[in-house]
Amino acid sequence: MNIAIVGTGYVGLVTGTCLADFGNHVICVDIDEKKVEMMREGHVPIYEPGLEEVFLRNIKANRIEFTTNIKDALDVCDVVFLALPTPPGEDGSADLSYVIGVANQIGELMTSYKVIVNKSTVPVGTADKVHEVIASKTTIKFDVVSNPEFLREGYAVQDFMKPSRVVVGTSSQKALDMMNRIYKPLTEAGIPVIAMDEKSSELTKYAANSFLATKITFMNEVANFCELVGADVDKVRLGMGSDDRIGNRFLFPGIGYGGSCFPKDVKALVKSGKQENYQFKVLEAVEEVNQTQKVILVPAIKEYLGGSLQGKKIAMWGLAFKENTDDIREASSLDMIEELTNQGASVIAYDSAAMPNVKRAIGDKIEYGDDMYEILNDADVLLVVTEWSEFRNPKYEVIAEKLKNKAIFDGRNLYDLEVLEEKGFFYKSIGRKTVLPST
Ligand code: UDX
Repeated sequence: MNIAIVGTGYVGLVTGTCLADFGNHVICVDIDEKKVEMMREGHVPIYEPGLEEVFLRNIKANRIEFTTNIKDALDVCDVVFLALPTPPGEDGSADLSYVIGVANQIGELMTSYKVIVNKSTVPVGTADKVHEVIASKTTIKFDVVSNPEFLREGYAVQDFMKPSRVVVGTSSQKALDMMNRIYKPLTEAGIPVIAMDEKSSELTKYAANSFLATKITFMNEVANFCELVGADVDKVRLGMGSDDRIGNRFLFPGIGYGGSCFPKDVKALVKSGKQENYQFKVLEAVEEVNQTQKVILVPAIKEYLGGSLQGKKIAMWGLAFKENTDDIREASSLDMIEELTNQGASVIAYDSAAMPNVKRAIGDKIEYGDDMYEILNDADVLLVVTEWSEFRNPKYEVIAEKLKNKAIFDGRNLYDLEVLEEKGFFYKSIGRKTVLPST
């Protein structure tokens, strides 16, 4: 099948590359000439483990090409995926101007039946809106489908190739048949394509992400309470998660959720609720709790350092909002940096992927180091922010030797309490007992 992908950001590029790998001919369209040129030369413009290999394989097989001209793509493609940004507007609602802009162009330029597939996360009712916009420009038949993505950064290729399900929202049998053809390689592997109407499909995406954000936030509150009563959240998590109605995943407490999806989608669903005079009370609380959770270790560091952060130096391991990505959108590291520096501390950070992005965002507000151990020199304490695997089994002797205090504040519960106890560290994690050095 000939497929066009409009927008080669994170979702578009992963979708286009994987659909090419299914054997389709894919044309990716982007307005950014530099980016298109770069991709033509075989460079992947985003950081995503595993993507480059599939990308290059499909370029070599001539199954994927790139253009800035949407008309060229529309002339040969039956299905057009929209993978455009829907950034939050000032009031938290999704800004649809890119989606509507491209819908206008499609309406003006199309010359035969098309299936327009919306991959972007868009508010309920957007498929209808896109339909209206295109219909106002053409008399040619077309269908609009909602097909939300559920790709995690760092695992996007795997999530596309082996999803738990594919959600397809359409009221047209013809469009559904075409979508089923596209996803046949997945259905043949036993992955369900769940067909529904457009609105339910659009809401599925928001509801799924908001539920996961709620699950994490609930666990963060349980963790905070564990500390007060002397329970261990790791044990509680195992005890709870073994009930398959709850499930083991997304129960890991930490320093709050971040990234490009959860914060944006929770906000947008709250906002959509308001527009219908409905108050999503649970989600409002989720947002509030998450904001506090992002900086929850700051007061603990302050207390450990004698009640003031003035003139103290904090070494930070990790800046990305999670491992295996260079993404710092809504990252807890940024909130903590703000809070720590506001209170007079300085921060030196190391992250193998995210430092360029942080430098672009906040410049020399903090120092950066190229070596995870070097940044510990003269630092008062170590603060672990991201769960990169290189931080999981550190050289404790080096940490102890370099830090002014043998103290680790861990926002990701990476270390064994017993090990840290044995090594004589002060160790504060989330929802577990604080390890005090024996005197
Ligand atoms: C998420 C969804 O998982 C994906 O389906 C959606 O389409 C896009 O948003 P992503 O933002 O890449 O993906 O990250 P994810 O791995 O889901 O983690 C989101 C945040 O939750 C991170 O900040 C992570 O650290 C945090 N998290 C996750 C926890 O704090 N605890 C957990 O148990 C799981």
